[in-house]
Amino acid sequence: MIKKITSIIVTFSILINISLRADEGMWLPLLLKQLNESDMQKNGLKLSAEDIYSINKSSLKDAIVHFNGGCTAEIISDKGLLLTNHHCGYGQIQAHSTVQNDLLTNGFWAMNASQELPNPGLTATLIVRMEDVTAKVLAGVSDEVNETEREKKINETINAIQKEAVKGTHYGAYIRPFFYGNEYYMFITETFRDVRLVGAPPSSIGKFGGDTDNWIWPRHTGDFSIFRIYANKDNNPADYSPDNVPYKPKHHLPISMKDIEKGDFTMVYGFPGRTSEYLSSYAVDMIMNESDPAKVKIRETRLAIMDMEMKKSDSVRIQYASKYASLANYYKKWIGEINGLKKLDAINKKKQFEQNFLSKVNADNNAKNKYGKLFNDLEKAYTQFNPLNKQRDYYIEAILGIESVFYAYTYVNLIDSLNKGKKPEELQKDIERLQTAKKQFFKDYDSKTDEKVCAALLKIYYDNIDKTQQPDVFREIEKKYRCGNNTTLMFEKYVADIYKKSIFVSETDITKVLSNIAKNYKKVQKDPVYKLMLSCYTKFVQDIRPQYNKLEAEVNNLNRIYMKAIKELVSDKKYYPDANGTLRVAYGKVDGYFPRDAVFYNYYTTLDGLMEKENPVVDEFIVSPKLKELYQKKDYGQYADKNNELRIAFCASNHTTGGNSGSPVLNGEGQLIGTNFDRNWEGTMSDIMYNPDQVRNIILDVHYTLFVIDKFAGAGYLLNEMTLVK
Ligand code: ARG
Ligand code: ASP
Repeated sequence: MIKKITSIIVTFSILINISLRADEGMWLPLLLKQLNESDMQKNGLKLSAEDIYSINKSSLKDAIVHFNGGCTAEIISDKGLLLTNHHCGYGQIQAHSTVQNDLLTNGFWAMNASQELPNPGLTATLIVRMEDVTAKVLAGVSDEVNETEREKKINETINAIQKEAVKGTHYGAYIRPFFYGNEYYMFITETFRDVRLVGAPPSSIGKFGGDTDNWIWPRHTGDFSIFRIYANKDNNPADYSPDNVPYKPKHHLPISMKDIEKGDFTMVYGFPGRTSEYLSSYAVDMIMNESDPAKVKIRETRLAIMDMEMKKSDSVRIQYASKYASLANYYKKWIGEINGLKKLDAINKKKQFEQNFLSKVNADNNAKNKYGKLFNDLEKAYTQFNPLNKQRDYYIEAILGIESVFYAYTYVNLIDSLNKGKKPEELQKDIERLQTAKKQFFKDYDSKTDEKVCAALLKIYYDNIDKTQQPDVFREIEKKYRCGNNTTLMFEKYVADIYKKSIFVSETDITKVLSNIAKNYKKVQKDPVYKLMLSCYTKFVQDIRPQYNKLEAEVNNLNRIYMKAIKELVSDKKYYPDANGTLRVAYGKVDGYFPRDAVFYNYYTTLDGLMEKENPVVDEFIVSPKLKELYQKKDYGQYADKNNELRIAFCASNHTTGGNSGSPVLNGEGQLIGTNFDRNWEGTMSDIMYNPDQVRNIILDVHYTLFVIDKFAGAGYLLNEMTLVK
């Protein structure tokens, strides 16, 4: 009896555990009224759902921008001034940097509109409205039809609906699946194409702490940069033109100058990229024990080589700054994710949930018919999927991680077309695209660095992928370059040889070839890097991808059924869809946390803490003399808190993920209190399993942003166009 009661209690608490807690979730703005409004108001929201998202009047949503399709940004003035992270504008800041004029190191501030820097290709997208199109998309799609056909039918419908929705407008439209394809929503967008750089702090502020502090709380990074959206005279999107004028938004965010207190309500409005909260234990097992560790190992090797070369040369340092940062970012995140999942005992939690779920299924004949075999099927599917996923991970991270190979890969279509007898005249567009890409590629390419990476990655691939699954080129390498048992040397010799001969590692050579591609394309096919690429690519496309896609479809199908079943059988909960790059609202509270036994982290950091971290001999922790001077004089102006300290960052329990960077963090009145830029390391498993005790998002306090603009950079004129609420 006692046993039974305990087991009921355990089961019950597991269901509660797996279910939602106050701070978990990334909610669709369109459904806030129905699902969250009262809960949010109970927790401190002073606005209505309609104030956050409306299609009838201006609302907060009109100030939320998808920045270049990856990050989020917010509009903070009626002249289209845009606030996002330093690491989100990093590529643009780098693009304007040279060894002589290094904006990464020195920062940049336009002192008037004419000094703002255009960024070809950079976009800022607003959401005009969203709509539930599930019924339309799934009309006539039965559960019986196989996954490929289902997908085909759905894609056709989606294309038709999207096209119809924006006919005769300058808007864009995309429809995305939610809850693994149980629901579909459409987003109507307006994309601006003239977005200029207004200001960025030096890396010693914008990237203070660098990769050492990345994903870490307590944090002292001034991770922001400022852009401006330009429009044509009608306030519509236009390509860059000196005649364009600052965009007049429907709404811009007022900025709160009040101190932030523990327990304050916060919400994050932005574009979270991808989460997988409803996976089965089999999937979590694969991610945590196979996929993440493999990717970590490969990147570790790549990063170590890059780091060594960057330390040797200033030009390599600038060339590889952005690449390095983005590789290092997920490398570290995956390590945190593995640790977090372990600490949470995630697989067992999922297993317990599944057992409990299964007993619900078995208690109901109808459910038993529909879902009785589900876990067996999932287990079987993942057992088959796992080795293919490994192959794909290694192909993407190790083979395509070699820059020359990836670059050669961009020529496949052109060479293929020429082989099939197409005339160069017909391929003019492709050739022009490759001309432009060539400049970009070589601007940030160092063949010596790449050569080392290439040898190391080929060896990792060779050591970890079963011989029977390796592309043929590895057999040729063995034949021609074998050095006894020393495979390190074997790959070094091979790579040294091909990098001496290949056109893909030399801008001069590829320029010559591209200038008369009709005559030269046969030569490209004989190029040793091209051959290496083609051997790996062919293996992947012919033997791995078809199977991978088939199993992925199967897994997706099972996940869709599982998701539906969870919502059906555990129906007393509210569910939020996994992040998929669409607009969401997360809400939570300002709070510190216990990262480990006996250690507590406070919810905010200060300039004093930055000074504690100062280390003049370690690049990442250098403090600029100007900032030090302001610190010594305590010259914080209106940006100081009630204790006369200058706060830099704070943390809260909002559920966020990659893509949320740059997102506005708002108080209960919808005023900006900070800019989201990271999560804590202990909480990085929140993409798979959220835990309110450990998961925190990291936010740049807007006081510090304004302080840097005004006191540090002397660009205080920008504050005149903002709305500060004292
Ligand atoms: N971890 C943050 C995010 O995922 C910031 C990354 C940029 N910073 C860096 N040191 N790499 O984007
Ligand atoms: N730093 C991430 C971003 O760039 C945010 C996160 O993963 O929490 O979106």
